[in-house]
Amino acid sequence: MSKLFSPLQIKGISLKNRIVMSPMCQYSAIDGFVNDWHYTHYISRAIGGCGTIIQEATSVVPEGRISYADLGIWKDEHIGALKELTSAIEKYGAIPGIQLAHAGRKASCDLAWKGGHQIKSGVDSWQTVAPSPIPFYENDITPLELSSEDIKTIVDKFKEAAERAIKAGYKVLELHAAHGYLIHQFLSPITNHRSDEYGGSFENRIRFLLQIVDKILPLLNENLSLWVRISATDWVENGWNPDESVKLSSRLKSKGVDVIDVSTGGNVAHVKIPVAQGYQIPFASEIRQKTEVITGAVGLITQVSQAEDLLDKSKCDLVFIGRELLRNPYFALQAAIELDEDIDFQKQYERSFK
Ligand code: FNR
Repeated sequence: MSKLFSPLQIKGISLKNRIVMSPMCQYSAIDGFVNDWHYTHYISRAIGGCGTIIQEATSVVPEGRISYADLGIWKDEHIGALKELTSAIEKYGAIPGIQLAHAGRKASCDLAWKGGHQIKSGVDSWQTVAPSPIPFYENDITPLELSSEDIKTIVDKFKEAAERAIKAGYKVLELHAAHGYLIHQFLSPITNHRSDEYGGSFENRIRFLLQIVDKILPLLNENLSLWVRISATDWVENGWNPDESVKLSSRLKSKGVDVIDVSTGGNVAHVKIPVAQGYQIPFASEIRQKTEVITGAVGLITQVSQAEDLLDKSKCDLVFIGRELLRNPYFALQAAIELDEDIDFQKQYERSFK
């Protein structure tokens, strides 16, 4: 059997293959609710054979949205429509996951296809928050520095969002601690200039994330799994770095986080990132090797042979596929054919693939 189609057991959850749909904002929600677009988009990738689907960054509070059209899970009213989505994803053979997020200083932005710039006034804009009052771009809104009371409130908001996600039927909860959003803003000394228990030392900078993890883990049973997406490096000197990522991953693993999903960057404007095929893999591979945590790799993984090779060479345990799945919802089905795997196809499509 190929590596890509080897099942992976995480606690009581059986992933049928190693292909994970990477979380990707669709900027298509009103008041945080999923709608026809999200159903079509995610269910297609379940029918397309992905083992696991991680729903896009879904905000734990309205002001934590990247844009006014992000998905949300800040109120109980969101649960019903999300439950319909998770039921359909499962019905078509994939494990439903959700990325719980807060954008911090990178909130209040326009839609990606309108440029994604921060909106600074009007109904679609709001005051952003961050560990320290430092904007991402010089001309962005200066974020309000969170008080320690505010921080505790946000930790509770993550917990409440996790409770709703569980009620809505998600089996995997992924915390978005990457790409320069709020949790990453705490991790990195570039964005965290605090002098209280949340800033300064490594221990203090990881405290916010660990407090969220500590609140969520007790909510889980054997059939619910907690994953964390990190940016392994800020790609700048004196930023968050790969050594800290290894140390953090090890701490998260020992607490009971099941998977570290390894991305990079996003916290510092104007940074040069050497984007090329597989450019983030060495970070995932180092974390896997040094901590033995189940590790996901992401970033320009577009070919079946490339994905298979990464798994075969033990660089990672899961491959997260982003844009290739936007281009081709049937990536996983085509991978099965290419690797000569005898998988279960939806009967309506079977004769077209075999
Ligand atoms: C993303 N990405 C992303 N990442 C994340 O952690 N949460 C998110 O909600 C989003 N949103 C998002 C939207 C869109 C349109 C794109 C293209 C990307 C990043 C994504 O998950 C992935 O890490 C990158 O796209 C790199 O992987 P690929 O696309 O090269 O396979």
